[in-house]
Amino acid sequence: MKRIVLATGNKAKLNEFRQMLTDYDVVCPRDLGIAFDVDETGETFYENALIKARALNELVGEPTIADDSGLCVDALDGGPGVRSARYSGGGDDENNAKLLAELKDKPNRAAHFTSCIVYYDGERIISAEGYTHGVIADALDGDNGFGYDPLFISDDLHKTFGRASEDEKNAVSHRARALALLKRKLADEVGGAE
Ligand code: IMP
Repeated sequence: MKRIVLATGNKAKLNEFRQMLTDYDVVCPRDLGIAFDVDETGETFYENALIKARALNELVGEPTIADDSGLCVDALDGGPGVRSARYSGGGDDENNAKLLAELKDKPNRAAHFTSCIVYYDGERIISAEGYTHGVIADALDGDNGFGYDPLFISDDLHKTFGRASEDEKNAVSHRARALALLKRKLADEVGGAE
């Protein structure tokens, strides 16, 4: 089975990728005894994912995958976007509070999450994006998930991701959609089991 190194230290993310990319042996830097961290200096999700995939490939000399994601709000011209994690300078609670404050009195609350995943093997770059649409709630609702989940009312689920089960969210999430597309592209362009 071909091995792919995923640029993450997050166990939940590693499991999500493993469950989807079943034709590959997906490992993370920690599994290889490597510490990996790189500054996300890109202006787009694609740039950031590529920066991470390239840097990790240079380190391990094997095919790598990296992802970048975030929340894009129409009334904020697509922000916080690539700055979603560092939007307020604080954690999730502060980010959500800032988002509610910035959208106060704004009638258009449409938003979407974007996920961009990049595969890089030293030659080929294969990328896939996934989206999930919704609107930003007036107040926090639900404790599930992470990040902006308690404020994101999914168009597909008609409730916030904060109220959705993991399975419900994974059926419609930006990351799951990007992963499904990447899986098809990898099967076409790279092949899997040998
Ligand atoms: P990352 O690129 O996956 O680390 O995500 C960057 C940031 O985007 C996170 O810290 C969250 O603030 C936000 N984000 C990305 N995906 C989600 C999601 O599924 N739910 C809530 N917030 C998310």
